Amino acid sequence: MFAHLQPSAADPIMSLMEAYLRDDNPQKVNLGIGLYYDEQGNIPLMQAVRQAEQRLLTQGHPHGYPPIEGSAAFAAQVQRLLLGEEVSACGLATVQTVGGSGALKLAADFLRDYLSREEIWLSDPTWANHGAIFAGAGLQTHSYPYFDDIAGELRFEAMLECFNGLPAGAVVLLHPCCHNPTGTDLTPAQWRTVIEVMQQRRLLPLFDIAYQGFGDGLEQDAYALRAAHRAGLDCLIANSFSKNAALYGLRLGALTLCCGDAQTASNAQGALKTLIRRSYSCPPTHGGRIMETILTDDALRHLWRSELDAMRDRIRQMRLRLASGLEQGGSALDYRRIRDQRGMFSYTGLNPQQLETLRQRYAIYLVAPGRMCLPGLNLNNIDYVADAILAVSRS
Ligand code: LMR
Repeated sequence: MFAHLQPSAADPIMSLMEAYLRDDNPQKVNLGIGLYYDEQGNIPLMQAVRQAEQRLLTQGHPHGYPPIEGSAAFAAQVQRLLLGEEVSACGLATVQTVGGSGALKLAADFLRDYLSREEIWLSDPTWANHGAIFAGAGLQTHSYPYFDDIAGELRFEAMLECFNGLPAGAVVLLHPCCHNPTGTDLTPAQWRTVIEVMQQRRLLPLFDIAYQGFGDGLEQDAYALRAAHRAGLDCLIANSFSKNAALYGLRLGALTLCCGDAQTASNAQGALKTLIRRSYSCPPTHGGRIMETILTDDALRHLWRSELDAMRDRIRQMRLRLASGLEQGGSALDYRRIRDQRGMFSYTGLNPQQLETLRQRYAIYLVAPGRMCLPGLNLNNIDYVADAILAVSRS
């Protein structure tokens, strides 16, 4: 029955992580997968998460089925986080999902099954898994210009030109902050222009916000979402707590639809519930309870935010230090990208040969074509990495 199956292509990000784990070089450095490591090289258990878990343990929740859409209190907190403290729930439909990827898959199913969409436009470049998720859900994927890897710049005018040429109703996936993989974001003024074009051309944005809090802060990073919502634009928002609460393995995310009015939102919520039920029935509970506990308690919420701020600051320190190491070493590589890009990633401009040498000779792992995940750097390995990059970019 199964004998016809052929070997599958490995996922470029996950397989790199596996190769890193297998590597027995004591100096190995993981700058591949989008994961936050602390200064000691560990994935943190955030204090806010630990305290919320202790509280939940004391309360002793039985493990019954949650509602298909997850808890209403969690959904309300997600809406505040994405759209601002004062947001009205009217016109919004939010469901808990299995991570940010689960939110994207649910969005894809919704677009195809309920909005009859057959295509989606993704930035060039974009997260390696976007294409697979949407194509796997039966949508045809196209790209819009985003980043010029030679000049190291956003292709803003070309992007607008593309949007202006799209058919009405076309779905466009946008990264509101910390663009994956380039670390290059739009300014607030550029977002306002994009939102105007979306409105004029009657386009449908799907915002994928997986790194809220890692750019400039939780509020600032939500600028595009809030501006779109204020402008009355219908849109979809997929968000994740993998990175900003370090809940990777608990698979916690949400999908929010901004629908304009309460009746439409209620119908949209019903559609999402139908899709969830037929796919995995209902979400896992533990992650949602943790985040709900944090976000509904002032002290825990404050603690979480301050821990996230510290994570962002540490990444920034690493950026500046690596860029200055490369500058002082006379690097041929454009160190300003590393300095100026935002979030977890830098799109370094290292070529495939240089990446291969970094991996083979120095056990330093980056995702092709040149994405570096900065939190893998710390004071113990940063000079080693800078020296290795200087060496490969000289040769
Ligand atoms: C990444 O881009 O490395 C992360 O989003 C992790 C993943 O699932 O690919």
